[in-house]
Amino acid sequence: THQWRGLIEEYRDRLPVTDTTPVVTLLEGGTPLVPAQLLSERTGCDVYLKVEGANPTGSFKDRGMTMAISQAKEQGAQAVICASTGNTSASAAAYAVRAGMVCAVLVPQGKIALGKMGQALVHGASILQVDGNFDDCLTLARGLSEKYPVALVNSVNPARIEGQKTASFEIVDALGDAPDIHVLPVGNAGNITAYWKGYREYAADGMATRTPRMWGFQASGSAPIVDGAPVLQPQTIATAIRIGNPASWDFALAARDESGGLIDKVTDRQILSAYRLLASREGVFVEPASAASVAGLLYAAEQGLVDPGQRIVCTVTGNGLKDPDWAVMGAPQPVVVPVDADAAAERLGLTG
Ligand code: F0G
Repeated sequence: THQWRGLIEEYRDRLPVTDTTPVVTLLEGGTPLVPAQLLSERTGCDVYLKVEGANPTGSFKDRGMTMAISQAKEQGAQAVICASTGNTSASAAAYAVRAGMVCAVLVPQGKIALGKMGQALVHGASILQVDGNFDDCLTLARGLSEKYPVALVNSVNPARIEGQKTASFEIVDALGDAPDIHVLPVGNAGNITAYWKGYREYAADGMATRTPRMWGFQASGSAPIVDGAPVLQPQTIATAIRIGNPASWDFALAARDESGGLIDKVTDRQILSAYRLLASREGVFVEPASAASVAGLLYAAEQGLVDPGQRIVCTVTGNGLKDPDWAVMGAPQPVVVPVDADAAAERLGLTG
């Protein structure tokens, strides 16, 4: 069979599973690595997009969740809990359904995209809106998992990182070697940690000849790692990365320093501009947080930090359908036409 079997089956020997681990999967992973035409032109490099919105629940979180929920099930957990800016909760809710488990999610009040809320709801999760930000939600989720019999499935759970590192394997498998630079949005910093682990493991085992430089980008109103201090009131339109005190802060710094990379910040304006460019010029619709990687690459290129001729991969982390408000906002209203070909052609500017 040619069907992709899900990342645990595809990379079983590189993951902490045994023959008796109950694999909870929606066949996640195996996502497209799409050549980016305009970005390649603008940078003089070979730029690719790792389109993680193509995962079953529409974000990279599914990679971590198949591992975390499988492990929780193996350990006999009957319930899982997470804090989330939306995607983790959507993924946890779906995988909990597959596992026959109860799922509880803690989200910052009024600060998550509607599509993500809808996912958690339709999958039957118990949702608590916390009067606080993501960092408060994570503190609460950790506390609950210590006191009550629920498994924590945030990226502080090492199984999450293990699952997410497989994205690096896929990229090396597709390109034949690691890229020169890998660019990611950074929120709680689990994903940059996971990619770096994956690249290092593949290189150590001779599956790649080298590791890439890791470039991470935060939103400028939520950039604790760049600013060097926790942000108490993180702000950004990219709600997925509206995080003021990343759990994997030290690991992100290690990824940056060990790889000779960088972590910088981009403004909401830069994020929205990259968001529109990806949709209108590359045909790839991502959510705003995902566009932070591309915004960062373009910003770095403007600063003269991108030597031509390199191979660069940007991870775009989540599907644009999760948060379509930004696509509609400011766009012209569609015009209404009668059922008449000539009238329709006129509005479309078509000439016979
Ligand atoms: N992009 C998207 C679409 C995300 O949902 C997240 C994180 C990130 C980037 C950042 O990844 O946290 O590993 O550095 N979302 C988490 C959530 C926090 O709850 O869904 P990170």
